[in-house]
Amino acid sequence: ASVDQPAPPGPNKPLEIGVNGQQYLWRYDYPGGVFSYYEMVVPVNTTVTLKVTASDVVHSWWIPKLGGKVDAMPGYDNETWFKVDEPGTFEGNCAELCGANHADMRARVRALPEAEFKAWLDRQKADIKAAQDALARTRAERKVP
Ligand code: CUA
Repeated sequence: ASVDQPAPPGPNKPLEIGVNGQQYLWRYDYPGGVFSYYEMVVPVNTTVTLKVTASDVVHSWWIPKLGGKVDAMPGYDNETWFKVDEPGTFEGNCAELCGANHADMRARVRALPEAEFKAWLDRQKADIKAAQDALARTRAERKVP
């Protein structure tokens, strides 16, 4: 993933987030190469569209206060959307038995005012870049191709 792509949609334009279920966590991919795990951060007053998939077995995306269950299946994108009006935190859990640690596959959506969301996105982008730079330096030092 590159972090040098165009900025994600601004406030009130729809925001598309990729949701990927993996034993036993959720990964979220934002426009511009930003990603996070477990906690999805979104702006309020914005339609958030989700493309839900999985990379190993079937999981089910479910944040009860934000809508019904959506199957997360390898090889498919299932779509859903939600919109949050007020800042807040919404808890959920994988809703499909997916293995020994299924019960630990929790998810959280945190809705922030637009400016705070933008600040989170910038910070996340900077953290990812710093981690990638550090990894590249380590590889160079160890002469790993
Ligand atoms: Cu993933 Cu249950």
